[in-house]
Amino acid sequence: MAIAYRSATEIAAIRRAGAVVMEILETLRAAVRPGVTTGELNKIAARELARHNARSNFKGYSPARGVPPYPAVLCTSVNDEITHGIPGKRVLREGDIIALDFGAIVDGWHGDSAITVPVGTISLEAQRLLDVTEEALRRGIAQAQPGGRANDIARAVQRCVEDAGYAVVREYGGHGIGRELHEDPWIGNVVERGQPNPLLRPGIVICIEPMVAAGSATTREAPDHWTVATADGSLSAHFEHMVAITAHGPVILTAPPEAGSGEGDESGK
Ligand code: MF3
Ligand code: CO
Repeated sequence: MAIAYRSATEIAAIRRAGAVVMEILETLRAAVRPGVTTGELNKIAARELARHNARSNFKGYSPARGVPPYPAVLCTSVNDEITHGIPGKRVLREGDIIALDFGAIVDGWHGDSAITVPVGTISLEAQRLLDVTEEALRRGIAQAQPGGRANDIARAVQRCVEDAGYAVVREYGGHGIGRELHEDPWIGNVVERGQPNPLLRPGIVICIEPMVAAGSATTREAPDHWTVATADGSLSAHFEHMVAITAHGPVILTAPPEAGSGEGDESGK
């Protein structure tokens, strides 16, 4: 699949999908507390999708033959779980951390974003992991510049994580997004030899999504075919934003427009 270059009008439409995802993620963040089940969070997400006349791009998603379609609208990955945790009966406990990865289709355009949030009071170590992972995302976004390359993003993420003494999960990463949830280009979180390293040009819309392990980043897949956890049981965090590369630099489509930047009215330019 070729990389798509979106017009300002198209980016404004993708931003509307991003805004719905962001708003629902904030509702979910507020619902996280000890005693809540991951299945209850999924229910809230499904209700909010309907309220926004949006559809799920996660539910029914099937990445490959032999993998059962993803059964929920939300991914809930707790503690050592890295990504694609399936919501269910699990009860959140004080001190847990939970990654909420959520997407929506609005008027035919896809949104996708993730946050990792504390359940009640968490350890200083867990908080540091959240802070470093979010900072790695910020550093990656800062490299989403026209004229740059995908590896600039990967290098910035990797350096931030490894300088902090943590490990980057290598098997999963970011992606183009727009008419599909996953489009070209692949946006890795580590620089790998032989990895495609496309030029970043205005109009490219990508998801940047570092996944970080406090210990070893070797992964283990659960029998449910979806949930991915650290093999050593160490904590893991995940943050994701959808970002448009513009002539003026990166614009985050799953965060409020920056005040005074003229952002949010791309279609008027
Ligand atoms: N943010 C995740 C990703 O880009 C969301 C996929 S969840 C799935 O891989 F259920 F759709 F697979
Ligand atoms: Co994604």
